[in-house]
Amino acid sequence: MKLLFVNCCISQRGENSRTLSLARAFLEAFRAAHPGAEIETVRPETLLTLRHFGPEMLNDRDALAGVGAWDAPVFDLARQFRAADRIVVAAPFWDLSFPAALRTYIEYISANGLTYHYEADGCHGDCRAERLAYLTSGGDVEREDSLGVLYWRQLCAMFGIGQFDYVFAGGLDIDPAKAPELLEAACALAGKLAETF
Ligand SMILES: Cc1cc2nc3c(=O)[nH]c(=O)nc-3n(C[C@H](O)[C@H](O)[C@H](O)COP(=O)(O)O)c2cc1C
Repeated sequence: MKLLFVNCCISQRGENSRTLSLARAFLEAFRAAHPGAEIETVRPETLLTLRHFGPEMLNDRDALAGVGAWDAPVFDLARQFRAADRIVVAAPFWDLSFPAALRTYIEYISANGLTYHYEADGCHGDCRAERLAYLTSGGDVEREDSLGVLYWRQLCAMFGIGQFDYVFAGGLDIDPAKAPELLEAACALAGKLAETF
């Protein structure tokens, strides 16, 4: 079994990133529950170097897709995403969603003909993963319609990933004294989710 860890923990806190703490709690529990599993990581540095798509890049990608050249480098991330058995995405709550680097990553993995395709009734997913978990931490409290969570829930539907779960460590910038306790509770939830993931 292969778990893909999309690490978008871009943070001024570096190793003390709260989002990274959530991800670590998840990965530690996942490793303990699945000792034989392989974990593949997309690193923040990789996400930050991705060039977002413009018309020329899209034309080039469409031309490659048109001849079925799915082994081209522009499809590397989409192939990796498509092949994973389980996926965990971790990103801080920025500007009501997540960092732009993650949005650019989504442009790369959303490859028509590879990770999804169209039929008469609309879009169908072609990814192998049965589950995806989204981990995020935010300064404000969690809202019911949090955009990052909604976005990943809908991406799962588009990619054919049956089960979506998330952990939102919210309210971390309201009262600094309460932040460690809130984060600890969210880390416990992330660990619990990973045990049966
Ligand atoms: C650029 C930026 C944008 C942010 N936007 C939001 C926001 O829209 N809503 C919110 O609740 N918190 C926002 N925050 C606060 C972070 O979500 C919060 O501090 C989070 O825990 C940071 O995670 P980290 O420790 O992994 O960096 C923002 C922080 C930054 C740096």
